[in-house]
Amino acid sequence: MHPIYLQRIFLYLLTVCILVSFLLGVQIFLSPRFLNHFIFHVKQPLRYIEFWRSGYRVQNIQCLYSNKEKSFVYEDLTRMQILPNSIFFLETSCKHEAGVDLSPRQACSIESAALMNTNRQIYVVIISSVKNQTRSPVIQRLYEYKNVQIVQVDLVRLFQNTPLYRFYVEDNILTSLWPLSHMSDLLRYVTLYKYGGTYLDLDFMVIKSLEHLHNYAGAESSVAVAAGVIHLDHGHWLSSAALGELRAHFRATEWGANGPGVLTRLLKNECVQQSYGEKLTQCRNFTIYPPSYFYPIHWPQWADYFNETSAPSIMTRLEPSLAVHVWNSFAKQVPVQLKSQQPYAQLARRYCPRISDLAGDTF
Ligand SMILES: *[C@@H]1O[C@H](CO)[C@@H](O)[C@H](O)[C@H]1NC(C)=O
Ligand SMILES: *[C@@H]1O[C@H](CO)[C@@H](O)[C@H](O)[C@H]1NC(C)=O
Ligand SMILES: *[C@@H]1O[C@H](CO)[C@@H](O)[C@H](O)[C@H]1NC(C)=O
Repeated sequence: MHPIYLQRIFLYLLTVCILVSFLLGVQIFLSPRFLNHFIFHVKQPLRYIEFWRSGYRVQNIQCLYSNKEKSFVYEDLTRMQILPNSIFFLETSCKHEAGVDLSPRQACSIESAALMNTNRQIYVVIISSVKNQTRSPVIQRLYEYKNVQIVQVDLVRLFQNTPLYRFYVEDNILTSLWPLSHMSDLLRYVTLYKYGGTYLDLDFMVIKSLEHLHNYAGAESSVAVAAGVIHLDHGHWLSSAALGELRAHFRATEWGANGPGVLTRLLKNECVQQSYGEKLTQCRNFTIYPPSYFYPIHWPQWADYFNETSAPSIMTRLEPSLAVHVWNSFAKQVPVQLKSQQPYAQLARRYCPRISDLAGDTF
């Protein structure tokens, strides 16, 4: 062969090689998982600033990754037979590796739900990996209730067969500025989509039975529907609508947009009435209770739950409520003096007697 042909063939092969590796590079670079990790690391400094501002240390978010192996000590929610109309609490921090460690206030909330809803199974869903099966005293007290069970969850299996499966396995949650909080938002809708039932925040004191109520949430003000308590029957239109909305419009940089924001937006689109005053609102087989039912004290007034002076009038105000949201994200640092007349303390003594007893003077 003439050398000029050999040279051409060589150049041709070289060009093909370069082109193929370039395309492979672009492909890897553009894969969602790569992009998300990239964005995640770019955002990390922002996250540091955010947590420094809010007084927290940077959080461990290992248990959110879709490809991380997890240790199971408790049963896996996705491999259980879930009773209809169960109540779900979600603990979405990744800090339980050395043993599940619920705070007394969280446990108090769980106890109140168990006490007021004796015919309902209560699942406390832990998304963290857990390696130690020793039960803390708090958990031992909770297990005195036959209807309370701590469970873990294989998130890949939970998201399977839901509209958010790809969203989850591509680790899009890592693009969020508040990944744990936004995961908690997603999980409450995914859980209700899969099993139906009631979702409750871990800072609700349940003071009446919720057993007879179906398909509802509570307004926290005249313009906003909150996502701290949601009941949906299995197959209700709102659960698929919520997942569809999250898939299309997940907002990584807005704190409230993926939880309460989803309900507020959907109901605004679907319903005529858009203001939630003193009466309940019915819309397409869904009820929105006025603030007095679940959020009798608006969040800027959260300190009312700790104030002994105004306690009598506050307690009167709480009487008609079904459950009381105590805003622990604001109130965490303030101690509840369990033997005092603080409204929170009065509620705890009455609706979580065992945990109050265990906690002693304060929690
Ligand atoms: C599990 O946790 C208990 C209580 O926190 C502790 O005493 C025990 O040493 C732990 N076990 C292991 C294997 O880490
Ligand atoms: C309301 O929803 C429930 C289940 O989600 C269903 O059984 C019932 O028929 C619905 N009612 C109406 C009027 O659509
Ligand atoms: C408690 O409530 C009283 C009466 O409403 C109010 O004057 C006082 O400032 C409150 N105390 C605190 C610590 O918020």
